[in-house]
Amino acid sequence: MKSVFVSGLLEGQVAFVTGGGSGIGAGIAKRLAAQGAKVALLGRTAEKLERVAAEIAAAGGEARCFPADVRKFLEVDQAIKAAVAAFGRLDILVNSAAGNFLAPAASLSANGFRTVIDIDLCGTFNACRAAFEHLAKQGGSIVSITATQAEVPTPLQCHAGAAKAGIEKLTRDLALEWARQGIRVNAVAPGPIEETEGMSRLAPGDTATTFKKRVPLGRWGTIDEICEAVTYLVSPAGAYVTGATLLVDGGTSLLGAGPWLDMIGEMMGE
Ligand code: NAP
Ligand code: COA
Repeated sequence: MKSVFVSGLLEGQVAFVTGGGSGIGAGIAKRLAAQGAKVALLGRTAEKLERVAAEIAAAGGEARCFPADVRKFLEVDQAIKAAVAAFGRLDILVNSAAGNFLAPAASLSANGFRTVIDIDLCGTFNACRAAFEHLAKQGGSIVSITATQAEVPTPLQCHAGAAKAGIEKLTRDLALEWARQGIRVNAVAPGPIEETEGMSRLAPGDTATTFKKRVPLGRWGTIDEICEAVTYLVSPAGAYVTGATLLVDGGTSLLGAGPWLDMIGEMMGE
């Protein structure tokens, strides 16, 4: 998909993308690079990051890899410091790293719940906190990728729903606290996005077909459509937007929890 935004919007800027080694995060990293930003990629698996960095380089952009676990503040802090040392500044942070799986709350272990909160919510705080001193130098922008599960009760995902709701609240709190440093803090909440690890985990087999039929716009979204939303928020087009969560879900959340009621049995394999 050709972007609706003019090219070169982010020339001279530096972006740091967690979860940049695959899926939506990789798409965002490539899009920000195509818009002129130098891009730092963070994830646990160096090979995944290197593949994305090579694609960015092949397209004429510049990217570097910083393997780290978002759950470990010191690792994230060191990665962001190293990116700033390499590129000279930081303008944009995108939090896309996350973990999710289908699990009934009644049998989910305490460690399973904590692990997802740790990656999604604490990991997002860790990256925001580590990025603050660098973003504050000239102002900048943070975008965290949440999910419709933050608002809509969703079976088998209480861990991810709680984590994403926490991120959306954190987004509003940081937007208020950091506005005086010229840092805008927003979120994008995607609905179901095709060809992603997320949807292969969350809508396995026949549930994908059932789910697709229920999306008001009649289809799943694309990674490109999430990239467009992120570009809007980090670009001058979004200069007066902070503390917002932009839903990019084909209208899915308008239906509330209703569609899940008759899918829950199917999802639980009953
Ligand atoms: P994905 O490809 O699995 O992306 C998640 C990335 O996070 C992976 O590259 C993973 O790399 C990284 N990651 C996981 N745990 C990490 C950790 N502890 N430290 C550092 N990096 C870690 O999945 P996706 O479907 O594209 O999802 C991307 C984002 O979009 C997530 O925030 C997800 O919640 C959100 N989202 C997705 C959908 C969808 O339809 N797919 C819908 C709504 C929201 P490593 O394993 O190498 O670390
Ligand atoms: N159902 C129920 N519990 C699960 C589970 C599942 N499918 N997968 C993991 N868990 C539990 C584990 O049993 C463990 O709890 P326990 O110690 O009580 O047994 C806990 O979660 C941690 O699992 P572990 O595999 O040690 O975590 P990890 O840190 O290696 O990996 C995950 C984190 C589990 C989120 C892993 O799926 C991951 O790395 N995901 C990243 C990619 C992703 O999820 N993409 C989609 C984004 S929407």
